[in-house]
Amino acid sequence: MIHTGRHFLQVPGPTNVPDRVLRAMASPVIDHRSSEFAELGLSVLERLRAVFKTAGPVVIYPSSGTGAWEAALVNTLSPGDRILMCETGHFSQMWRQVAMKFGLEVDYLPGTWRSGADPEAVAERLAFDRERAYKAVLIVHNETSTGVTSRVAEIRAAMTGSNHPALLMVDTISSLGSMDYRHDEWGVDVTIAGSQKGLMLPPGLAMNAISQKALAASGHARFHRSYWDWHEMLKSNTHGFFPYTPATNLLYGLREALSILFEEGLPNVFRRHDRHGQATRAAVKAWGLETVCTNAHEYSSSLTAVFMPEGRDADRLRQIIVENFDMSLGAGLSKLAGRVFRIGHLGSFNDLTLAGALSGIEMGLRLAGIPPKDSGVTAALNSLLSTCEQVTPSAPLK
Ligand SMILES: Cc1ncc(COP(=O)(O)O)c(C=O)c1O
Repeated sequence: MIHTGRHFLQVPGPTNVPDRVLRAMASPVIDHRSSEFAELGLSVLERLRAVFKTAGPVVIYPSSGTGAWEAALVNTLSPGDRILMCETGHFSQMWRQVAMKFGLEVDYLPGTWRSGADPEAVAERLAFDRERAYKAVLIVHNETSTGVTSRVAEIRAAMTGSNHPALLMVDTISSLGSMDYRHDEWGVDVTIAGSQKGLMLPPGLAMNAISQKALAASGHARFHRSYWDWHEMLKSNTHGFFPYTPATNLLYGLREALSILFEEGLPNVFRRHDRHGQATRAAVKAWGLETVCTNAHEYSSSLTAVFMPEGRDADRLRQIIVENFDMSLGAGLSKLAGRVFRIGHLGSFNDLTLAGALSGIEMGLRLAGIPPKDSGVTAALNSLLSTCEQVTPSAPLK
C-alpha cells in the first residue's frame, strides 16, 4: 500500500521531531575542541538543569537511555551492594536486569503492572532494614510499558520518614519534559533521562542529573567505570567540553528543543500533556476498552496503554492500523505482549495530532471487527473542547 503525507509516529518514544529541531541538526559539524563548541556545550548543560529542576550538575552521554541506567549504578554503588527496586512493568524489569548483571543484590518489591511503586511498601521495607543495607531505592517515574506514574515525592517522604540514608534513583525517560518532575524538591539523587521522548530529539543522548549526595557516593563507589565516569565528564563539562567526541549535531538539536520547551513554558507543556492524556482516556472509555492503569492519581500524561478485549490480538490491530493509516502504535511488552497497545501522546504534539491518532485507532478497531461501543474520537474532542483556552480573534486589520 502506498502511503501519502506524513507517517503518524504515535509510539511512546521515539517521538516526532519538530522541523525546527531537524533543521538545527542539519548544520555543519564543528571542532569539538573549539570555543564555538564550548559555547554550545555550556548553554545546553546550563539550560537542561531547568528541565530537571535542579541547581546541580546534569551530564549528557552519547548513548541510549539504557546507558544512563548503567551510569547511575556504576557511579554510585559497589559490587554486592543491596538495592531496593519496585516492580512497575517492563522497564523496571529491564533496569533490574542491568543491576543484576553487575552483581548487585536486588530486592524487587512485587507489583501488578497496573499501579505505581507503593510508598507504604517502600517505607515498610526500609523500616525492616535496621542495618541500613540498602544503598539505593530505584523507581521508574513513568512506566512506559503500562502508562502508570509513580509518586516520587511520596517515595522520598517514605524514605525520609524511615530515616533511611539510601540514595533515590529515578528513571524519567518517558516523563522528563512532558510531566511535572522536580529533581531537587523531591530529593532525588540520580535522575535518568533520554533524548527521544519529551525532549523531542532523535534517540542518541542520555542524561544523569546528580545530587551532591550522589556525587559524594561516587567518591567511594567501587564499580569499575571509564566511559560513564561522572568525574571525567564533569571536569570537561566545566568548560563546555566532553572527555570524548560528543554527539555534536544532537546537541544542536537539544539546544533548539530546549528553546521550543521554554518558549511554550514548562507549566504549559505539562498542562498540554495532562489535557491530551485526559482526552485519550475519554476515548478509551467511550470505545468500551480499559486502560492498564487503574488508579486515577497515577495516570500517565505522556502515554496510555490500552487492553484489548479478551481473545483479541493487539499486534493484529496495530498491523491493520499501520497498513491502512500509516500510524505506528506501541506494542505490548513482556507479559503484556499481544494484549495491550500503547498510544504515545507526548513531545511535539497538539489537539489535531491527537484527533488524527484516535481516528486511526477508531477506524482500525472497526476494520479489526472490534466495533467500538461509542465514538472515542467524539468523546476526546468533547474533552479537548471542555478544556480549550478560547482564543478570541484579534481585531481586524484596518
Ligand atoms: C522508562 C524507560 N526506561 C528505559 C528505557 C530504555 O531506554 P533506551 O531504549 O533508550 O535504552 C525506556 C525506553 O523506552 C523507557 O521507556
